[in-house]
Amino acid sequence: MDHKQQTFKNEQGIHTDFIEKMTYGDYLQLDTLLSSQKRLSDHHDEMLFIIIHHVSELWLKLIIHEIQAAIEAIKNNELQASFKMLSRVSKIQTQIIQAWDVLSTLTPAEYMEFRDKLGNASGFQSYQYRLVEFVLGYKTPYILKIYEKSPELHAILKEAYQSPGLYDVAIHALAREGFDINEEVLHRDFSTTYSKDESVEQAWMTVYKNVDQYWSLYELAEKLVDIEDWFQQWRFRHMKTVERIIGHKKGTGGSSGVGYLKKVLDHYFFPELWEIRTKI
Ligand code: HEM
Repeated sequence: MDHKQQTFKNEQGIHTDFIEKMTYGDYLQLDTLLSSQKRLSDHHDEMLFIIIHHVSELWLKLIIHEIQAAIEAIKNNELQASFKMLSRVSKIQTQIIQAWDVLSTLTPAEYMEFRDKLGNASGFQSYQYRLVEFVLGYKTPYILKIYEKSPELHAILKEAYQSPGLYDVAIHALAREGFDINEEVLHRDFSTTYSKDESVEQAWMTVYKNVDQYWSLYELAEKLVDIEDWFQQWRFRHMKTVERIIGHKKGTGGSSGVGYLKKVLDHYFFPELWEIRTKI
């Protein structure tokens, strides 16, 4: 019998004939997604190690998607729309922080069974992680060097590297509201990491002292603080998980390991928003 003449549903009313229709697996390209977990050792726990990285990279992809859209919304003075996206980013951050609990079930002995298979591969080379840092305004150039071999990726990284970050557009929003922001900050070289400025601090101080008048900017500031707070918690949990698994060994990427990860904890994305908390 021609399949088109058959009933498309089983007795529970569920569609079962997919010869010519798209399935769940087709839509999500699960063949591609689920064939990417290729262990280099035959050690059982390497599967956990690969999946935790894949899950984190997927969430990073959504974080970049949301922050880039939020940057456009803020540029267009659509602050309410940006708040929805920034709130979603914070929720995703709680997910990638929780992922450390799963990875913490990996013991040092288990990890050492397959660590040498990684060679010099390290999360340090995660281009999506660097894209997140770029959209948050932390511009470290070495990732551009690492990806010189992939022109398409290099171009994406370079564009984000040279573009204004989330904090830059927030500062422009302050200027649009009439705050007297240092011209050098407004027209700064966006390919450098933001460093704090007195006029920006004064503007945020005024916002926090007059919340009724500047409610939207106040809400924007708190969304930024949420993101930075969660980001630091991710960095901290990474550092402690690494200490728990490899102690003070050097990283596969070549850094001092835990020492390096402790040092990056010192970086602030939105310095004035933290500074004013002491002064309010
Ligand atoms: C057993 C698990 C892990 C260990 C032992 C580990 C270890 C390290 C070490 C030692 C570094 C410093 C760079 C180096 O010398 O390699 C690093 C960096 C990094 N790792 Fe991991 N890591 C682990 C899991 C993860 C996971 C699950 C992610 C999720 C994506 C991740 C993302 C990163 C990122 C983004 C960096 C760069 C941090 C920065 O430069 O601020 N790591 N990791």
